[in-house]
Amino acid sequence: MKKILVTGSNGLLGQKVIEILTGLKTVGAIATSLNVDKIVDVKGYDFELLDLTNHVETGYIIRIHNPDIIINTAAMTQVDKCEEQKAECWKINVEALKNLVKCSNDVKAQLIHLSSDFVFDGTGGPYTENDIPNPLSYYGLSKWEGEKIIKDRADKWTIVRTILVYGVNRTTRSNIVLWVKNSLEAGKPIQVVNDQFRAPTLVDDLANACIEMGVREKTGIFHISGPEMMSIVDIAYKVAGYYKLDTSLITPISSAELNEIAQRPRSTGFVLDKAKKELNYLPHPFEDGLKIY
Ligand SMILES: NC(=O)c1ccc[n+]([C@@H]2O[C@H](COP(=O)([O-])OP(=O)(O)OC[C@H]3O[C@@H](n4cnc5c(N)ncnc54)[C@H](OP(=O)(O)O)[C@@H]3O)[C@@H](O)[C@H]2O)c1
Repeated sequence: MKKILVTGSNGLLGQKVIEILTGLKTVGAIATSLNVDKIVDVKGYDFELLDLTNHVETGYIIRIHNPDIIINTAAMTQVDKCEEQKAECWKINVEALKNLVKCSNDVKAQLIHLSSDFVFDGTGGPYTENDIPNPLSYYGLSKWEGEKIIKDRADKWTIVRTILVYGVNRTTRSNIVLWVKNSLEAGKPIQVVNDQFRAPTLVDDLANACIEMGVREKTGIFHISGPEMMSIVDIAYKVAGYYKLDTSLITPISSAELNEIAQRPRSTGFVLDKAKKELNYLPHPFEDGLKIY
């Protein structure tokens, strides 16, 4: 039986990967995260506290579990926070990877590492796996540097880039669907950018794709996203429409007017041909994703 160790298991993606793995009878799952286990409603996996920036602890946990596959979902993911706390961001998104790669190599594990559409500048999408990154934000830079460490040093690696992930989450961390839904349900007006375009990704699709890459031993870079590109304000309108919430609370705004701390790419989106061909990847359209959500 293959053993799969997941880092950042309390995160949006980590939770979903563990949930799916425990339903498969053919793999063993080890969840690890910085803070105490949040997946309290699911059984059938081991949990270990693991701070990836602690190199001794990381080596120990990986050695005792001896996994065949490591899915690294742990990261500092808040884009503006990364811009403000650069040292912290670098420590987990870049430095920790050097040790993680070494530990993965030591146990001969396949390292499946999550990256982002924010490695691109948003002027040339939809992007293929061969397009050249040019990050605009510190978060994007850290993910791009992280990719280089994985590619240069890991013996068996897979890099999975994804875009604006949405789905059910047991923690208080928000995502685009939850933010719009909760705000409008509370009668709270929101400003949403109308000049940034993304292909929102259902976390279930992403988690299944990551697992599939492990099961099929796929290596290299894969682009995994939802199938449709839309502006972020259109995403908000679709969420409001689906839950029959008051769309008048949504104010479209330009990126320049919103003036966020970190610069974001204007338009990303991925060409999904490789994932479709090699993984039979068939992502849910956004409105179907909302039904599952
Ligand atoms: N969500 C998106 O829209 C999106 C888009 C593009 C790419 N990605 C990438 O996809 C991956 C997963 O994203 P996500 O949305 O699932 O992230 P998330 O919900 O923010 O979860 C990240 C997890 O990382 C863990 N973590 C943070 N610092 C750690 C450390 N020092 N040691 C161990 N664990 C640590 C946290 O664990 P605790 O909760 O236990 O503190 C957290 O739950 C990330 O690599 C992200 O960059 C995400």
